[in-house]
Amino acid sequence: MKAIRKNPILSSKVEGMAYIPPLTVIGDGVFLGPGVIFTNDPYPMSDRMVGVIVKDDAIVCAGAMLKAGITVGERAVIGMGAVVTKDVPEHGVVVGIPGNVISDSGSDGYINRTDYE
Ligand SMILES: CC(C)(COP(=O)(O)OP(=O)(O)OC[C@H]1O[C@@H](n2cnc3c(N)ncnc32)[C@H](O)[C@@H]1OP(=O)(O)O)[C@@H](O)C(=O)NCCC(=O)NCCS
Repeated sequence: MKAIRKNPILSSKVEGMAYIPPLTVIGDGVFLGPGVIFTNDPYPMSDRMVGVIVKDDAIVCAGAMLKAGITVGERAVIGMGAVVTKDVPEHGVVVGIPGNVISDSGSDGYINRTDYE
């Protein structure tokens, strides 16, 4: 894993069983839920790997899978179980298979949100 900033792990949260292969780049303040899978080989078995880039303050929820080479924009949110095959715009909220943008509200409204039952 590469870091965009100096100490991503100190300010990011990575939950259990996240698969983060070489060339993955994680920004600052990123949340990676349990079982997230990043890929780095678009067409196995090739010799040319490309990492996923996750920019600052993005949230990747439980069990999401991300295609090799895509970029998740700053403060974007990937919903649980999504299969993300394309770049995600900054502040985009993506759910489903294949992942589709359902909102541009971004991660701000989710971080530390407690107004649910
Ligand atoms: C992406 C997420 C944050 C969106 O939350 P939200 O804004 O409260 O979304 P809502 O529940 O209001 O759902 C909005 C719509 O998107 C759909 N949706 C939400 N999350 C979805 C998902 N992961 N996959 C598919 N559809 C989803 C809902 O069914 C709803 O569809 P509708 O309008 O047709 O009824 C949330 O669903 C999620 O994935 N949370 C994961 C939590 C997690 O992984 N935590 C860390 C580990 S415990």
